[in-house]
Amino acid sequence: MNEVSVSAPGKFVILGEHAVVYGKPAIALAINKRFHLSMRRDNEFKINNEATDIRANPHMRYISSKNDMLPVSVHIDSKIPTGSGLGSSAALSVTFSAAMRTLCGMSLDEEEIAKEAFEAEFFSQGRGSPMDTSISAHGYGIALNAPAAEEDLLWKITKNEHAWNISKMDVPPMTFVIGNTGIRAATGPLVEKVRKYKDSNRFAADMVDEIGRITLEGMEALRKNDVVGLGELMTKDHKLLSILGVSSNELNKLVGASLPYSYGAKLTGSGGGGSMVALTDQPDKVCDAIHSRGGTPFVVRTGVEGVRVSVKSE
Ligand code: PMV
Repeated sequence: MNEVSVSAPGKFVILGEHAVVYGKPAIALAINKRFHLSMRRDNEFKINNEATDIRANPHMRYISSKNDMLPVSVHIDSKIPTGSGLGSSAALSVTFSAAMRTLCGMSLDEEEIAKEAFEAEFFSQGRGSPMDTSISAHGYGIALNAPAAEEDLLWKITKNEHAWNISKMDVPPMTFVIGNTGIRAATGPLVEKVRKYKDSNRFAADMVDEIGRITLEGMEALRKNDVVGLGELMTKDHKLLSILGVSSNELNKLVGASLPYSYGAKLTGSGGGGSMVALTDQPDKVCDAIHSRGGTPFVVRTGVEGVRVSVKSE
């Protein structure tokens, strides 16, 4: 029997989370924290050697319903903290899709994996954008709905009334530090909170548009390697996200502690808890500042590859 081992990276968002759900631009980078999943056929469903119906997990249920329902044993070892805004559920969907597709002898095309994983995320959360699943499948850096050269376009995804063009984004070497508050926050309710606010309040809808505008400016700053300009836009984005109600005291504390040693800092991902990110050339000082405020810091390595599959024959 064959065992398939898959890994896919987590991510952070430089600019554009939440607004990207409504088709606005965003920039995301893959990070050197990966989700590892191995899978083999078995006579009952198991997760980490415990008999469990994997279909109780909505992401796995969606993907297995699209493929072959024969029982499998799944082993999961994730280095991406759950509910941390670093894309752990997207990486689960991407690795599970790639593993199922391998066992079923289907195509391992990155685009097909990204699309299937996005549908699983959407099924599970009832809402969302294909940002996390696309960056986890492709790796490196991506831009959504950015003016991009034809050859940089990776794929297009549409869902209901929204459409996203996903393209490669080259990011010059820059140092980012992530600070995890350790507070888990589920993505779905935070996305829903922003939707309700935006749909009921013109001011909130303007904030979403403004996030879209500054994200486009951020893409220009990245192209020019303008760390000062990009940092300012990140800090501005954090303020807009706070107004939209998705920051928290803990996130604000870590952002505030990082700013004296950073070009800019902001929450990353859905917020509520989870993580923040700082752009800096003093990573040690930022790490100390985050640590002293109760967060868990790490210096990010970017430029990491997307989904990777290997098959072991027994
Ligand atoms: O917190 P995470 O890692 O699930 O990131 C969510 C990003 C959002 O823009 C808030 C939602 C989405 O689907 O794009």
